[in-house]
Amino acid sequence: MTRRDLIQKIVLGGTTIIILPVIASSCAKDEVDGTNGGGSNSDKFTIDLTTPAYSALNAAGGWMVVAAKNIIVVNTGSNAFVALDSVCTHQGCTVAYNSGTNNFPCPCHGSLYSITGAVINGPATLPLKSYPVSKSGNILTISL
Ligand code: FES
Repeated sequence: MTRRDLIQKIVLGGTTIIILPVIASSCAKDEVDGTNGGGSNSDKFTIDLTTPAYSALNAAGGWMVVAAKNIIVVNTGSNAFVALDSVCTHQGCTVAYNSGTNNFPCPCHGSLYSITGAVINGPATLPLKSYPVSKSGNILTISL
């Protein structure tokens, strides 16, 4: 079959079928640090706390935005972690974490979110989505 034959078969009677390229790797396990946690589920990712890029998460009050996932991760102390969407629900700025007040201010228009992602002050009206975090050894697993 020639390329022309194939295109003619794809476009039939005014109906166009769009063939999208297969991006096999994008359907694979989400990984941030190369650790897959041994699972095959694509709805989670892992962070290896021994990786220098994530060293901020080793101390209570430490936090960082995992830009590849738009998720802010906070070490809340006592071996506990919180993961929330880092994108403000007002107009999409990236929130930060304030360890002194234990909340998430948005630098753009002053919205403020609690440690659970609930809106404390607007203009945002919707909460930040929260993701379960588990820790096993030095590996954090964040379920999306
Ligand atoms: S974008 Fe965050 S308060 Fe407006």
